[in-house]
Amino acid sequence: METPKWNQAELTVGQLATRSGVAVSALHFYERQGLISSRRTAGNQRRYRRDMLRRVALIRIAQRVGIPLADIRDALDELPDGRTPGRRDWEQLSQRWRAELDQRIHRLQQLRDEFSDCIGCGCLSIDRCRLANPHDALGDRGAGPRRLIES
Ligand code: FES
Repeated sequence: METPKWNQAELTVGQLATRSGVAVSALHFYERQGLISSRRTAGNQRRYRRDMLRRVALIRIAQRVGIPLADIRDALDELPDGRTPGRRDWEQLSQRWRAELDQRIHRLQQLRDEFSDCIGCGCLSIDRCRLANPHDALGDRGAGPRRLIES
């Protein structure tokens, strides 16, 4: 697929896919989900404003760190006139997701550091679980890996 010229104002879906590195099917999915938008030509073909590239990049980055698509859409919906985020918008978005990212990082660090020990999931499959979680006593405190959830 042809890479769009730098000064091309509108891109075909193939050009958007080529430049963004995102499959056409994923772009169609994003559009159905209201994350990106296009206009139709007289021949009923989609044309995307060039700045959709930044929206797509933002969606991919947010997805990569685990932000759900619905949250990404909510954040993008708050931008006036559905515009593509500029520097200020991006700073606000990252602030908004910072607390959530901090929590995820904390959970991942816990997993990394405590994965070799009993996590209180009810499996009792590690020999230490019988000492650390005898008779699955932690199950009385609720569902899931109680030690990870409660720490
Ligand atoms: S690891 Fe599952 S109960 Fe201990």
